[in-house]
Amino acid sequence: MVKLIGKNKLNTAVFISGRGSNLNNLIYSSKKQNLPIKILLVISSKKKAKGLNYAKKNNIKGIYLNFNNRSIAEKETLKILIQKKIKLVCLAGFMKILSKSFINNFKGKIINIHPSLLPKYRGLNTHKKVIKNKERFTGSTVHFVNENLDSGKIIIQKKIKVLKKDTIFTIAKKVLKIEHQIYPKAIKKIAVNL
Ligand code: GRF
Repeated sequence: MVKLIGKNKLNTAVFISGRGSNLNNLIYSSKKQNLPIKILLVISSKKKAKGLNYAKKNNIKGIYLNFNNRSIAEKETLKILIQKKIKLVCLAGFMKILSKSFINNFKGKIINIHPSLLPKYRGLNTHKKVIKNKERFTGSTVHFVNENLDSGKIIIQKKIKVLKKDTIFTIAKKVLKIEHQIYPKAIKKIAVNL
């Protein structure tokens, strides 16, 4: 496998809306581990997203955009992505749905992490649904983004067991832990083809 090092790393933008633990993990992996990306930009749909602090702390440009007016926000986003020569967009807890035309502009270059074993439990409240349906397993999936919600081609998936004593809270904790393992792995897997 070809390793992307130094300035050959892929210019990457991460889109967030909240806590930003996946963002923080990707920043860490891109600096300390051999993750072939350089995060140049963080876009947040929430002004007060905690994740924006990780951008600031690491001297990464962090921008808040109001996606309630999606077409203006997407236009602005596209402008910055082009300006920064972004080759990969990682959605990490980004709670807005991107338009078909935005996705097509970056076809095959937008990926997302979702807290379930897709195609099961697209959308919100995945852990609640897992418990309600007495699933024996759950997990997380990294997938390409297409115009349908949580439906693009799967890049990587990891499973965990659901125990009888598990709650939404304990599942969320366990799933987040595996998310931090698989997001960097998924990026390594696709990077050479971008
Ligand atoms: C993650 O569980 C991810 O799967 C989902 O939103 C959560 C984001 O967490 N899409 P964080 O903001 O990265 O901590």
